[in-house]
Amino acid sequence: MAAVTSHTAQSTVGVTAVHHVPAAMVAAQLDTLAADVRIDAVKIGMLGGAGVATAVADALERHRWPHVVLDTVMVAKSGHRLLDADAVAVVRDRLVPLADLVTPNLPEAAVLAGAEAEAADEAQMERQAKELVALGARRVLLKGGHLVGSDESVDLLVDGGRTTRLTARRVATANDHGTGCTLSSAIAALRPQRDGWLEAVTDAKAYLTAALAATPRPDVGHGHGPVHHFWALWTPAVNSPGVG
Ligand SMILES: Nc1ncnc2c1ncn2[C@@H]1O[C@H](COP(=O)(O)OP(=O)(O)OP(=O)(O)O)[C@@H](O)[C@H]1O
Ligand SMILES: [Mg+2]
Repeated sequence: MAAVTSHTAQSTVGVTAVHHVPAAMVAAQLDTLAADVRIDAVKIGMLGGAGVATAVADALERHRWPHVVLDTVMVAKSGHRLLDADAVAVVRDRLVPLADLVTPNLPEAAVLAGAEAEAADEAQMERQAKELVALGARRVLLKGGHLVGSDESVDLLVDGGRTTRLTARRVATANDHGTGCTLSSAIAALRPQRDGWLEAVTDAKAYLTAALAATPRPDVGHGHGPVHHFWALWTPAVNSPGVG
């Protein structure tokens, strides 16, 4: 199930317009679904404004859902701002402490941790992830997708006193639209089926890396095309060059 928080006019090239859903409507969607369906896990993505962020925090306190993954979406891959400046404080002060796992990318971690610059290496990534834990995050997966220049794409999971390095080969592709959204959604979907967060994150990252490697040919659109969510269902013949 999904509760819509914001509509975007969006292509692979960019976001041209954003229309936020009123906060009361977001609350109504969440309460209506919660009254009917058992919720096993939650993934929070683009929130848009402070009103919606507050409504989501209130709903988390009302319903106490398990396995809450907070993807702290702030800026689109194309550079368009997806979270108002005054909403950042609501995300940091209310949502981060309510989440079971927070999944910032490098610029988002720097903003939330109040750092002067985004992390430029793994040691700085670990330091900023630990600062987010000090701010009240239960656990943090700091994503290193933006740390280019290596053959690997490394994410750090800081959980309790333990830091785990999750690494995958870096896929050379322009079709990377939605990597972060895909990863956090896959973690939330897998968490109830796994024994712990590390297992869910590890399997979600493997799924995402395969989805990046399987992006369709020819490319979709002229910008950042989508990752291939259904790679496991497509036969090699369908997915081969020149078809589809
Ligand atoms: N080229 C790549 N090859 C392999 N893995 C990648 C690549 N780019 C990103 N990833 C992985 O994708 C996941 C998302 O990381 P990223 O830092 O791109 O998040 P994000 O900026 O929030 O993404 P988005 O722009 O979709 O919101 C991480 O697990 C990261 O390691
Ligand atoms: Mg993101």
